[in-house]
Amino acid sequence: MTESGKSTLARRMVAGYKTEGLHTLILDPLDDPAWYNAGASYLTTDGDKFLEIVFKSRKCAIFVDESGEAIGRYGGAMKKLATRSRHYGHNAHFISQRAVDIDKTIRDQCTYLFCFRVSRGDAETLANEYGYEELLECSRLNQGEFIKCGRFLKPKKIRLF
Ligand SMILES: Nc1ncnc2c1ncn2[C@@H]1O[C@H](COP(=O)(O)OP(=O)(O)OP(=O)(O)O)[C@@H](O)[C@H]1O
Ligand SMILES: [Mg+2]
Repeated sequence: MTESGKSTLARRMVAGYKTEGLHTLILDPLDDPAWYNAGASYLTTDGDKFLEIVFKSRKCAIFVDESGEAIGRYGGAMKKLATRSRHYGHNAHFISQRAVDIDKTIRDQCTYLFCFRVSRGDAETLANEYGYEELLECSRLNQGEFIKCGRFLKPKKIRLF
């Protein structure tokens, strides 16, 4: 849901990658300068430029914010980013208000889910997809709380703020 803390978590991750010496490439239609404050290497609103740089680079952390919108406009290329990013040594992150707005092909490529508060329906979809009943709790999370899980990582509730 909006204002649940997704971009805040992403910016903390950007700061973490920076301390590890990794560059971060951001596509954000809102062009929020907070990404630079967190230490991002590159920020753009232009999906074509972003994808060109992504596929010319190696070993970066990549963030697509409001990715429902980007996947709608650059669907094929975003699928390529999801399926091939590991081949480029990239670590890609797709952020969306609704996980179900992220194409299923892309969702299936994701190693981890960081789920903030969502509707009951979306929580049920994610619980079914990942096979964890605990994800149903995502419809009752407070602002700043999320559940992290992976296909082989049991869900854990974490408070960001
Ligand atoms: N300690 C905190 N750190 C960061 N944000 C906080 C804190 N306490 C409260 N907030 C509020 O939580 C919200 C987090 O916003 P954020 O941009 O991370 O949400 P979002 O999930 O990305 O929303 P959107 O879908 O609208 O992009 C902000 O409105 C902020 O004011
Ligand atoms: Mg946001």
